[in-house]
Amino acid sequence: MHNAEYILIKTHAGLEEVLENELAEWQIPVNEKGLRCVFIPYQKEYVYRCNMFLRTALRVLVPVHDFTAEDTDEIYVQALRIKWEEYFPVTQTFAIDFSGMSDTFTHLKFASLRLKDAICDRFRNKLGSRPDIDREYPDVLINLHVNGNKISLSIDTSGESLHIRNSRRVQNVAPLNEVLAAGLIRLTGWDKQSEFVDGMCGSGTFTMEALGIASHSAPCLFRSHYGFKNLPDFDKTLYENLMTEAEEKVTEIDFILRANDIFPPAVSKARRNIQALPQGDKVKFTTSDFTAMRPQTESGVILLNPPYGERIQTADIEGLYAQIGSTLKHNWPGFKCGLISSDIQALHAVGLRQKINRTVFNGALECKFRVYDLYAGSKRTPQDNENPQSSSTN
Ligand SMILES: C[S@@+](CC[C@H](N)C(=O)[O-])C[C@H]1O[C@@H](n2cnc3c(N)ncnc32)[C@H](O)[C@@H]1O
Repeated sequence: MHNAEYILIKTHAGLEEVLENELAEWQIPVNEKGLRCVFIPYQKEYVYRCNMFLRTALRVLVPVHDFTAEDTDEIYVQALRIKWEEYFPVTQTFAIDFSGMSDTFTHLKFASLRLKDAICDRFRNKLGSRPDIDREYPDVLINLHVNGNKISLSIDTSGESLHIRNSRRVQNVAPLNEVLAAGLIRLTGWDKQSEFVDGMCGSGTFTMEALGIASHSAPCLFRSHYGFKNLPDFDKTLYENLMTEAEEKVTEIDFILRANDIFPPAVSKARRNIQALPQGDKVKFTTSDFTAMRPQTESGVILLNPPYGERIQTADIEGLYAQIGSTLKHNWPGFKCGLISSDIQALHAVGLRQKINRTVFNGALECKFRVYDLYAGSKRTPQDNENPQSSSTN
């Protein structure tokens, strides 16, 4: 695309390194890691591949112009100089997505309106007519990012967030974002072939991602909309070749995946979501208290996204977390457990020594993602509710 030198891939806070590792698996070099993003060199194939294959990317942006501005008039003047007519035809619709933080630009919406005016005026000056705006389904999505007085304008080649893997999925209360779920699974170091347990599955996000990861089913197999498909330089052959590659990469899984929840309607939703996926029949569903579950093999990984007491109220949150800790210690030696929660107090009640403790965000909620290595006699911390003395003896 038009003299682009690099690509910016957005992800969730705390997953930058995970995204870097995922890029390395595709032999895509990384220029630099930023906050909630990773920069890679520009290649059209990378734009398509990152959109179609990565599970920990939220958006793939191709920069148009970076500059500094002190007020919205300066944004207008700078944006008016950009040859927008070379980026997309006047017959296409566009919209502007904006993000960032700035003391200079306290009303980003207003800044985005000035950018829209500049783009329309540029077209009108050059071609005598202007493109229409379509806020819901634009052909071209332009990203305005503001950091202090630094302005970055890019083309959003994803068109909509890549966490949308499949628009038909049904949700239960407080579902996880798919990109976050995929990143957390990767953080556990799961080997993609041992038993996988989603112990409090809700609508099944962890299980859906695990199924995709283990069967090498790229997200593009389920999603057809990408912003890059509407750009004038769309390379249909490249896209189709990558689709063929995605189809050929799919492998059969032959290990156990389990999705469990205590709440029957949640299990129904997870079942509906998962059985609509290829190899969804490989997942076993149960409706029970997680503490009643037992491993079916000697090693594997358990992912837990318990209630935090924020969106789902639970009478005794600390009691629940203490029970989780006790169950993990006694029943799951040989497994790893990854647990995400915003409730630090409750997390203390788990009482197991964590191998990883990472700050991540579930929507606006700041959370900790902890990974515990479980082995016979797992070390317990002094907060162990069940047996406060055990930390010194294990
Ligand atoms: C935050 S939601 C999980 C959301 C899920 N990760 C998703 O993406 O849809 C927490 C889930 O834990 C379940 N739950 C709460 N206590 C449980 C227990 N003791 N055993 C099993 N599931 C439990 C709730 O029914 C709820 O579905």
